[in-house]
Amino acid sequence: MALREVLTWPNPRLREVAQPVSKVNDEVKALVRDLFDTMYDEGGVGLAATQIGVPLRVVVMDCGMEEKRPIALINAEIVAREGTILWQEGCLSVPGVTAEVERSAHINVHYLDATGQPQALEADGLLAVCVQHELDHLDGHLYFDRLAEFERKATLIAYEDAAIESNEASS
Ligand code: NI
Repeated sequence: MALREVLTWPNPRLREVAQPVSKVNDEVKALVRDLFDTMYDEGGVGLAATQIGVPLRVVVMDCGMEEKRPIALINAEIVAREGTILWQEGCLSVPGVTAEVERSAHINVHYLDATGQPQALEADGLLAVCVQHELDHLDGHLYFDRLAEFERKATLIAYEDAAIESNEASS
């Protein structure tokens, strides 16, 4: 098990645009394992390679409630969207705050799984939100980028306050 450091905002590497994986080799499989280990350790429901400083189009998630439902998406593309949904989102790279974000309610996704096989996924609810949130990371976007200007500023001010408080608590 290998835990990786999750980068937090405003680390500029969170703005990097990730490159497609050319081959699902042992290195990519190890990356997927590290992402799952780190995500479960941090108590998150999703993690993108960008968040651990690896600019490749790899994300993992587990939106299972009672049982584990691990999903790894490599080179994923959203090929269809329908409707809108509002969801209270948080992010391991922006700890301590959440905000309501508008997303597509239903999506169809094409991707490679962790063995390199092409797969299709139809998602709604939390899973659809999670896929959109994680794929945004691969394009260097954070959820607060999708907020209206006033709300975006308020979220970032609350984030800075939360960071100051947690520094004071730990010193
Ligand atoms: Ni995130």
